[in-house]
Amino acid sequence: MIRTQVGIIGAGPAGLLLAHLLRRQGIDSVVIEARSRRHVEERVRAGVLEQGTVDLLNAAGAGERMRRQGLVHHGIELRFAGRRHRIDLFELTGGRAITVYGQHEVVKDLIALRVEAGAPILFEAAAEGLDGLDGDRPRIRFENHGEPDEIICDFIAGCDGFHGVSRAAMPAGSARHFGKVYPFAWLGILAATPPASDELVYAHHERGFALLSMRSPEISRLYLQCRPGEDLAAWPDERIWDELGTRLETSDGFRLVDGPVLQKSIAAVRSHVTEPMRYGRLFLAGDAAHIVPPTGAKGLNLAAADVWLLSRALARYYRSGSSDLLDGYSETCLRRVWRAQHFSWWMTSMLHRFDPGDGFEFRRQLGELDNLAGSRAASTNLAENYAGLPLDGLEHPT
Ligand code: APR
Ligand code: PHB
Repeated sequence: MIRTQVGIIGAGPAGLLLAHLLRRQGIDSVVIEARSRRHVEERVRAGVLEQGTVDLLNAAGAGERMRRQGLVHHGIELRFAGRRHRIDLFELTGGRAITVYGQHEVVKDLIALRVEAGAPILFEAAAEGLDGLDGDRPRIRFENHGEPDEIICDFIAGCDGFHGVSRAAMPAGSARHFGKVYPFAWLGILAATPPASDELVYAHHERGFALLSMRSPEISRLYLQCRPGEDLAAWPDERIWDELGTRLETSDGFRLVDGPVLQKSIAAVRSHVTEPMRYGRLFLAGDAAHIVPPTGAKGLNLAAADVWLLSRALARYYRSGSSDLLDGYSETCLRRVWRAQHFSWWMTSMLHRFDPGDGFEFRRQLGELDNLAGSRAASTNLAENYAGLPLDGLEHPT
């Protein structure tokens, strides 16, 4: 049996950053993670950090490697009808930028800080059930190296992603769940070839959406829209490169350079929100509470915003005994979540092919992209949402 103040389920960005922020406030926590350290450190996921997330990692003393290796981008490109249009994020938002730095690099940095500090983190320790959420000593039942064990704590943070046990532990009827599944998936590759563009490219094409991203000056990260439930075996590397080349083509002669594919995977495109993000002493954060389609690059950033608020709310509780911030946690998070849902839905709807037979929809999207390219007001709206809302109570060092 383990006793701590906050029991944290999941060592993704949400759980790890929460544990780190709490430690800096002198609050003890134990993190349990179902998978191995190696697995979570090598799992290739999202890669765009908003300015607010960068500021938070820096303010929390977790930004040292990100500052050295992250790629700071001042703009993104929209590509449609063979044309390119740059959205100048920096200029349109008064100096905000994004940083391209893989989610698993953030995870590695946070694990290293925790291990270095000697703070508890258990891998291959899967939560199986939660008890006593209504009382003031909630418990996490989990498997510790094959043996049943238990964490007794004051609060539980459910940071166990979309497929975790926390959301499922909320009694029926205590929360509402809102979801949407899109009629396509994303096939993603990591490739050992220098990115063919200095900035991210979001491409609209009659064959479907494509995205050119990167992880470093030598490593590209690319995605293409495919059918849901698509079999990876139907996508040999040459077919992927051909398709990406076609979708990213421009009339001014852009050329995609292929290279060895290091990793490939298919991910569903969906939205989900659980309201409220709390039941009794259980607080959900990150993907456990909400999923956004990846087109807006918001998933990781929402997770960071949640745990920033949760860490402040818990710090206030332990310092003054006041639970006002804890009581406001869900509502405050959900406002940002629904704005991100809207933005992610909008980007997704503007850039993907929903129905290949629908010529009206295709031309309507081109009309919308043309409007974006020609209107500073429309571009500013995209830029503000993409670069992200500042985090309340955190200064952006200018
Ligand atoms: N017990 C312990 N750990 C668990 C359990 C369980 N029962 N179930 C799941 N986990 C772990 C998973 O193995 C995973 O490492 O919880 C972690 C959840 O991490 P993420 O899925 O990365 O979720 P989160 O930390 O909320 O980060 C959100 O992840 O999917 C991306 O785009 C999304 O960038 C966003 C980010
Ligand atoms: C990524 O680099 O993995 C990435 C970038 C932008 C997105 C989604 C994913 O919108």
